[in-house]
Amino acid sequence: MTKKRVLSGIQPTGKLHLGNLMGAVENWTKLQDQYDCYFFIADLHALTTAYEDVSGLREANQQVTIDLLAAGLDPEKCVIFRQSDLPEHAELHLLLSMITPLSWLERVPTYKSKMDELKGKDLHTYGFLGYPLLQAADILIYKADFVPVGQDQLPHIELTREIARRFNNFYGQVLPEPQSLLTQFPVLPGTDGRKMSKSYNNTIALSDPPEVITKKISIMVTDPARLKKDDPGHPEVCSAYDFYKIFSQATKDKVALECQQGKRGCVACKKELAKILVDYLAPLQARRHELEKQPEKLTRILASGAEKARLVAAKTLQEVKHSMGIL
Ligand code: TRP
Ligand code: SF4
Repeated sequence: MTKKRVLSGIQPTGKLHLGNLMGAVENWTKLQDQYDCYFFIADLHALTTAYEDVSGLREANQQVTIDLLAAGLDPEKCVIFRQSDLPEHAELHLLLSMITPLSWLERVPTYKSKMDELKGKDLHTYGFLGYPLLQAADILIYKADFVPVGQDQLPHIELTREIARRFNNFYGQVLPEPQSLLTQFPVLPGTDGRKMSKSYNNTIALSDPPEVITKKISIMVTDPARLKKDDPGHPEVCSAYDFYKIFSQATKDKVALECQQGKRGCVACKKELAKILVDYLAPLQARRHELEKQPEKLTRILASGAEKARLVAAKTLQEVKHSMGIL
Protein backbone atom coordinates (compact mmCIF):
# COMPACT_ATOMS: atom_id res chain seq x y z
CA MET A 1 0.00 0.00 0.00
CA THR A 2 1.42 3.40 -0.89
CA LYS A 3 1.65 5.95 1.85
CA LYS A 4 -0.49 9.07 1.76
CA ARG A 5 1.43 12.25 1.12
CA VAL A 6 1.81 15.07 3.64
CA LEU A 7 3.16 18.51 2.83
CA SER A 8 3.77 21.56 4.97
CA GLY A 9 5.92 24.67 4.97
CA ILE A 10 7.23 27.18 7.45
CA GLN A 11 8.27 30.76 6.89
CA PRO A 12 11.86 31.65 7.78
CA THR A 13 10.98 34.78 9.75
CA GLY A 14 13.94 34.24 12.07
CA LYS A 15 14.94 31.47 14.39
CA LEU A 16 12.11 29.11 15.25
CA HIS A 17 10.45 29.48 18.62
CA LEU A 18 8.56 27.28 21.04
CA GLY A 19 5.25 28.18 19.40
CA ASN A 20 6.53 26.86 16.05
CA LEU A 21 7.84 23.73 17.74
CA MET A 22 4.70 22.82 19.67
CA GLY A 23 2.25 24.08 17.03
CA ALA A 24 3.89 22.50 14.00
CA VAL A 25 7.33 20.98 13.93
CA GLU A 26 6.91 18.43 16.75
CA ASN A 27 3.89 17.13 14.91
CA TRP A 28 5.91 16.91 11.68
CA THR A 29 8.50 14.73 13.38
CA LYS A 30 5.72 12.25 14.18
CA LEU A 31 4.14 12.41 10.72
CA GLN A 32 7.43 11.54 9.02
CA ASP A 33 7.16 8.02 10.45
CA GLN A 34 3.75 7.36 8.91
CA TYR A 35 3.46 9.38 5.71
CA ASP A 36 5.33 10.30 2.56
CA CYS A 37 6.34 13.71 3.91
CA TYR A 38 7.55 16.89 2.22
CA PHE A 39 8.55 19.79 4.47
CA PHE A 40 9.95 23.03 3.18
CA ILE A 41 11.22 26.45 4.14
CA ALA A 42 8.89 28.99 2.55
CA ASP A 43 11.41 31.69 1.73
CA LEU A 44 9.37 33.11 -1.16
CA HIS A 45 6.49 33.58 1.24
CA ALA A 46 8.82 35.46 3.58
CA LEU A 47 9.48 37.91 0.73
CA THR A 48 5.80 38.82 0.51
CA THR A 49 6.08 40.75 3.77
CA ALA A 50 9.84 41.26 4.25
CA TYR A 51 10.63 42.58 0.77
CA GLU A 52 12.09 45.89 1.92
CA ASP A 53 14.81 44.51 4.11
CA VAL A 54 16.15 41.15 2.99
CA SER A 55 19.47 41.43 4.79
CA GLY A 56 18.58 38.71 7.28
CA LEU A 57 16.90 36.27 4.93
CA ARG A 58 19.89 34.11 4.01
CA GLU A 59 20.85 33.72 7.65
CA ALA A 60 17.24 33.04 8.64
CA ASN A 61 17.05 30.26 6.05
CA GLN A 62 20.17 28.70 7.51
CA GLN A 63 18.91 28.96 11.09
CA VAL A 64 15.52 27.50 10.28
CA THR A 65 17.16 24.58 8.50
CA ILE A 66 19.22 23.95 11.62
CA ASP A 67 16.14 24.27 13.84
CA LEU A 68 14.14 21.79 11.76
CA LEU A 69 16.89 19.18 11.80
CA ALA A 70 17.64 19.73 15.49
CA ALA A 71 13.95 19.33 16.28
CA GLY A 72 14.08 15.87 14.75
CA LEU A 73 13.16 16.09 11.06
CA ASP A 74 15.19 13.31 9.51
CA PRO A 75 16.28 13.64 5.87
CA GLU A 76 16.25 9.83 5.67
CA LYS A 77 12.54 9.80 6.50
CA CYS A 78 11.18 12.95 4.85
CA VAL A 79 12.05 15.37 2.07
CA ILE A 80 13.34 18.69 3.43
CA PHE A 81 13.89 21.51 0.97
CA ARG A 82 13.82 25.21 0.34
CA GLN A 83 10.94 26.63 -1.70
CA SER A 84 13.07 28.94 -3.85
CA ASP A 85 15.22 25.97 -4.94
CA LEU A 86 12.12 24.72 -6.79
CA PRO A 87 11.19 27.32 -9.44
CA GLU A 88 8.38 24.90 -10.32
CA HIS A 89 6.39 26.38 -7.41
CA ALA A 90 6.66 29.86 -8.91
CA GLU A 91 5.73 28.60 -12.35
CA LEU A 92 2.63 26.83 -11.10
CA HIS A 93 1.73 29.95 -9.12
CA LEU A 94 1.80 31.96 -12.35
CA LEU A 95 -0.31 29.44 -14.23
CA LEU A 96 -2.86 29.24 -11.43
CA SER A 97 -3.02 33.04 -11.29
CA MET A 98 -4.64 32.95 -14.73
CA ILE A 99 -7.75 31.27 -13.34
CA THR A 100 -7.89 32.89 -9.89
CA PRO A 101 -10.62 35.48 -9.43
CA LEU A 102 -9.31 38.51 -7.55
CA SER A 103 -12.31 38.40 -5.23
CA TRP A 104 -11.27 34.95 -3.99
CA LEU A 105 -7.96 36.37 -2.82
CA GLU A 106 -9.42 39.58 -1.42
CA ARG A 107 -11.84 37.69 0.80
CA VAL A 108 -9.23 35.40 2.41
CA PRO A 109 -9.42 36.53 6.07
CA THR A 110 -5.65 36.53 6.59
CA TYR A 111 -5.32 39.19 3.89
CA LYS A 112 -6.88 41.87 6.10
CA SER A 113 -5.81 40.49 9.46
CA LYS A 114 -2.13 40.20 8.50
CA MET A 115 -2.21 43.73 7.14
CA ASP A 116 -3.56 44.96 10.47
CA GLU A 117 -0.98 42.93 12.38
CA LEU A 118 1.89 44.37 10.32
CA LYS A 119 0.57 47.92 10.24
CA GLY A 120 3.97 49.51 9.72
CA LYS A 121 4.48 47.75 6.39
CA ASP A 122 3.06 48.62 3.00
CA LEU A 123 1.44 45.37 1.97
CA HIS A 124 -0.50 46.74 -0.99
CA THR A 125 1.50 44.55 -3.32
CA TYR A 126 0.65 41.95 -5.89
CA GLY A 127 2.84 39.39 -4.08
CA PHE A 128 1.08 39.83 -0.76
CA LEU A 129 -2.40 39.46 -2.24
CA GLY A 130 -1.16 36.31 -3.98
CA TYR A 131 0.31 34.79 -0.80
CA PRO A 132 -2.40 32.13 -0.43
CA LEU A 133 -2.24 31.28 -4.12
CA LEU A 134 1.49 30.64 -3.86
CA GLN A 135 0.64 28.39 -0.93
CA ALA A 136 -1.93 26.61 -3.10
CA ALA A 137 0.77 26.04 -5.72
CA ASP A 138 3.09 24.65 -2.99
CA ILE A 139 0.45 22.12 -2.04
CA LEU A 140 -1.00 21.20 -5.42
CA ILE A 141 2.36 20.68 -7.09
CA TYR A 142 2.96 17.67 -4.77
CA LYS A 143 -0.64 16.47 -5.04
CA ALA A 144 -0.59 16.36 -1.24
CA ASP A 145 -3.30 14.37 0.51
CA PHE A 146 -2.87 16.13 3.86
CA VAL A 147 -1.58 19.50 4.95
CA PRO A 148 -0.84 19.85 8.67
CA VAL A 149 -1.56 23.46 9.64
CA GLY A 150 -2.84 25.56 12.51
CA GLN A 151 -6.35 27.00 12.70
CA ASP A 152 -5.32 30.32 11.11
CA GLN A 153 -4.30 28.55 7.90
CA LEU A 154 -7.58 26.75 7.26
CA PRO A 155 -8.86 29.42 4.82
CA HIS A 156 -5.72 28.88 2.74
CA ILE A 157 -6.41 25.17 2.46
CA GLU A 158 -10.00 25.91 1.53
CA LEU A 159 -8.82 28.28 -1.20
CA THR A 160 -6.42 25.58 -2.43
CA ARG A 161 -9.34 23.17 -2.77
CA GLU A 162 -11.40 25.74 -4.65
CA ILE A 163 -8.54 26.46 -7.04
CA ALA A 164 -8.06 22.73 -7.66
CA ARG A 165 -11.77 22.33 -8.43
CA ARG A 166 -11.79 25.28 -10.79
CA PHE A 167 -8.67 24.02 -12.55
CA ASN A 168 -10.10 20.53 -12.96
CA ASN A 169 -13.38 21.95 -14.29
CA PHE A 170 -11.57 23.86 -17.00
CA TYR A 171 -8.84 21.43 -17.98
CA GLY A 172 -9.68 17.95 -16.69
CA GLN A 173 -8.90 16.01 -13.55
CA VAL A 174 -5.26 16.88 -12.78
CA LEU A 175 -5.06 18.37 -9.29
CA PRO A 176 -6.43 16.41 -6.31
CA GLU A 177 -8.02 18.39 -3.47
CA PRO A 178 -5.93 18.28 -0.29
CA GLN A 179 -7.29 17.99 3.23
CA SER A 180 -6.06 19.89 6.24
CA LEU A 181 -4.70 18.03 9.24
CA LEU A 182 -5.49 20.34 12.12
CA THR A 183 -2.80 20.26 14.77
CA GLN A 184 -4.43 19.67 18.14
CA PHE A 185 -2.31 21.95 20.27
CA PRO A 186 -3.43 24.93 22.30
CA VAL A 187 -1.91 28.19 21.13
CA LEU A 188 1.22 28.84 23.16
CA PRO A 189 1.22 32.30 24.73
CA GLY A 190 4.24 34.55 24.36
CA THR A 191 5.93 36.35 27.24
CA ASP A 192 3.29 39.12 27.07
CA GLY A 193 0.32 36.74 27.17
CA ARG A 194 -0.61 37.22 23.49
CA LYS A 195 -0.09 34.39 21.01
CA MET A 196 3.62 33.60 20.67
CA SER A 197 4.61 35.17 17.38
CA LYS A 198 7.66 36.71 15.81
CA SER A 199 5.68 39.81 14.88
CA TYR A 200 4.79 40.45 18.54
CA ASN A 201 8.38 40.12 19.68
CA ASN A 202 7.31 37.87 22.56
CA THR A 203 8.93 34.57 21.62
CA ILE A 204 11.18 32.07 23.32
CA ALA A 205 13.52 30.83 20.59
CA LEU A 206 14.59 27.20 20.43
CA SER A 207 18.14 28.50 20.44
CA ASP A 208 17.79 30.83 23.45
CA PRO A 209 20.47 30.01 26.05
CA PRO A 210 19.28 28.93 29.52
CA GLU A 211 19.80 32.37 31.09
CA VAL A 212 17.73 34.04 28.36
CA ILE A 213 14.92 31.52 28.80
CA THR A 214 14.95 32.08 32.56
CA LYS A 215 14.89 35.85 32.09
CA LYS A 216 12.01 35.74 29.61
CA ILE A 217 9.94 33.43 31.80
CA SER A 218 10.58 35.63 34.82
CA ILE A 219 8.90 38.63 33.16
CA MET A 220 5.94 36.63 31.90
CA VAL A 221 2.45 37.77 32.91
CA THR A 222 0.77 35.68 35.63
CA ASP A 223 -2.55 35.95 37.45
CA PRO A 224 -2.96 39.74 37.93
CA ALA A 225 -5.14 39.16 41.02
CA ARG A 226 -2.15 37.88 42.97
CA LEU A 227 -0.46 40.67 44.84
CA LYS A 228 0.89 38.68 47.74
CA LYS A 229 2.38 35.22 47.65
CA ASP A 230 -0.46 33.71 49.71
CA ASP A 231 -3.32 35.26 47.70
CA PRO A 232 -5.30 32.42 46.11
CA GLY A 233 -4.33 32.22 42.43
CA HIS A 234 -6.14 31.37 39.21
CA PRO A 235 -3.86 29.21 37.09
CA GLU A 236 -6.37 29.20 34.24
CA VAL A 237 -5.63 32.87 33.50
CA CYS A 238 -1.86 32.55 33.93
CA SER A 239 0.45 32.26 30.92
CA ALA A 240 3.07 30.42 32.93
CA TYR A 241 0.48 27.80 33.74
CA ASP A 242 -0.28 27.36 30.02
CA PHE A 243 3.32 26.25 29.70
CA TYR A 244 3.01 23.81 32.62
CA LYS A 245 0.04 22.22 30.88
CA ILE A 246 2.10 21.56 27.79
CA PHE A 247 5.55 20.87 29.17
CA SER A 248 4.90 19.26 32.52
CA GLN A 249 2.07 16.77 32.64
CA ALA A 250 3.75 15.36 35.75
CA THR A 251 3.54 18.46 37.94
CA LYS A 252 0.75 20.57 36.44
CA ASP A 253 -2.00 19.41 38.82
CA LYS A 254 0.15 19.96 41.88
CA VAL A 255 1.12 23.43 40.61
CA ALA A 256 -2.54 24.37 40.01
CA LEU A 257 -3.59 23.21 43.46
CA GLU A 258 -0.79 24.99 45.29
CA CYS A 259 -1.46 28.14 43.27
CA GLN A 260 -5.19 28.08 44.11
CA GLN A 261 -4.43 27.51 47.78
CA GLY A 262 -1.98 30.41 47.87
CA LYS A 263 0.88 28.09 48.70
CA ARG A 264 3.02 28.89 45.69
CA GLY A 265 4.81 32.12 44.85
CA CYS A 266 4.89 33.24 41.23
CA VAL A 267 8.61 33.95 41.27
CA ALA A 268 9.50 30.45 42.43
CA CYS A 269 6.84 28.94 40.19
CA LYS A 270 8.35 30.57 37.13
CA LYS A 271 11.89 29.61 38.15
CA GLU A 272 10.76 26.02 38.27
CA LEU A 273 9.09 26.39 34.88
CA ALA A 274 12.24 27.89 33.33
CA LYS A 275 14.17 24.84 34.53
CA ILE A 276 11.62 22.52 32.90
CA LEU A 277 11.92 24.36 29.57
CA VAL A 278 15.72 24.48 29.70
CA ASP A 279 15.81 20.71 30.30
CA TYR A 280 13.25 20.12 27.57
CA LEU A 281 15.30 22.04 25.01
CA ALA A 282 18.72 20.74 26.08
CA PRO A 283 18.93 17.76 23.65
CA LEU A 284 17.64 19.90 20.76
CA GLN A 285 20.18 22.59 21.57
CA ALA A 286 23.00 20.05 21.67
CA ARG A 287 22.04 18.85 18.17
CA ARG A 288 21.78 22.47 17.07
CA HIS A 289 25.27 23.14 18.27
CA GLU A 290 26.65 20.23 16.23
CA LEU A 291 24.80 21.29 13.08
CA GLU A 292 26.06 24.86 13.33
CA LYS A 293 29.56 23.53 12.89
CA GLN A 294 28.64 21.72 9.65
CA PRO A 295 27.29 24.17 7.08
CA GLU A 296 28.29 21.80 4.23
CA LYS A 297 26.05 19.16 5.70
CA LEU A 298 23.08 21.55 5.61
CA THR A 299 23.83 22.44 2.00
CA ARG A 300 23.98 18.75 1.12
CA ILE A 301 20.68 17.96 2.83
CA LEU A 302 18.87 20.82 1.10
CA ALA A 303 20.34 19.94 -2.30
CA SER A 304 19.27 16.34 -2.01
CA GLY A 305 15.84 17.41 -0.71
CA ALA A 306 15.37 19.70 -3.71
CA GLU A 307 16.34 16.89 -6.06
CA LYS A 308 13.75 14.54 -4.55
CA ALA A 309 11.07 17.23 -4.48
CA ARG A 310 11.73 18.05 -8.13
CA LEU A 311 10.89 14.49 -9.20
CA VAL A 312 7.32 15.11 -8.10
CA ALA A 313 7.00 18.84 -8.77
CA ALA A 314 8.32 18.75 -12.32
CA LYS A 315 5.95 15.93 -13.22
CA THR A 316 2.86 17.77 -11.97
CA LEU A 317 3.95 20.93 -13.73
CA GLN A 318 4.25 19.00 -17.02
CA GLU A 319 0.73 17.65 -16.55
CA VAL A 320 -0.61 21.12 -15.78
CA LYS A 321 1.06 22.68 -18.81
CA HIS A 322 -0.09 19.89 -21.03
CA SER A 323 -3.68 20.27 -19.90
CA MET A 324 -3.48 24.06 -20.34
CA GLY A 325 -2.39 23.72 -23.92
CA ILE A 326 1.15 25.08 -23.57
CA LEU A 327 3.12 21.89 -23.90
N1 TRP B 1 1.45 30.05 5.21
C1 TRP B 1 2.10 29.08 6.04
C2 TRP B 1 2.32 29.70 7.43
O1 TRP B 1 2.53 30.88 7.54
C3 TRP B 1 3.43 28.63 5.46
C4 TRP B 1 3.24 27.87 4.19
C5 TRP B 1 3.63 28.29 2.95
C6 TRP B 1 2.60 26.62 4.05
N2 TRP B 1 3.29 27.35 2.04
C7 TRP B 1 2.66 26.31 2.67
C8 TRP B 1 1.99 25.73 4.96
C9 TRP B 1 2.10 25.15 2.17
C10 TRP B 1 1.42 24.57 4.44
C11 TRP B 1 1.48 24.28 3.05
O2 TRP B 1 2.33 28.97 8.39
FE1 SF4 C 1 0.87 31.29 37.56
FE2 SF4 C 1 2.43 29.77 39.09
FE3 SF4 C 1 1.82 32.30 39.82
FE4 SF4 C 1 -0.04 30.42 39.89
S1 SF4 C 1 1.83 30.49 41.12
S2 SF4 C 1 -0.30 32.49 39.05
S3 SF4 C 1 0.52 29.14 38.13
S4 SF4 C 1 3.03 31.66 38.04
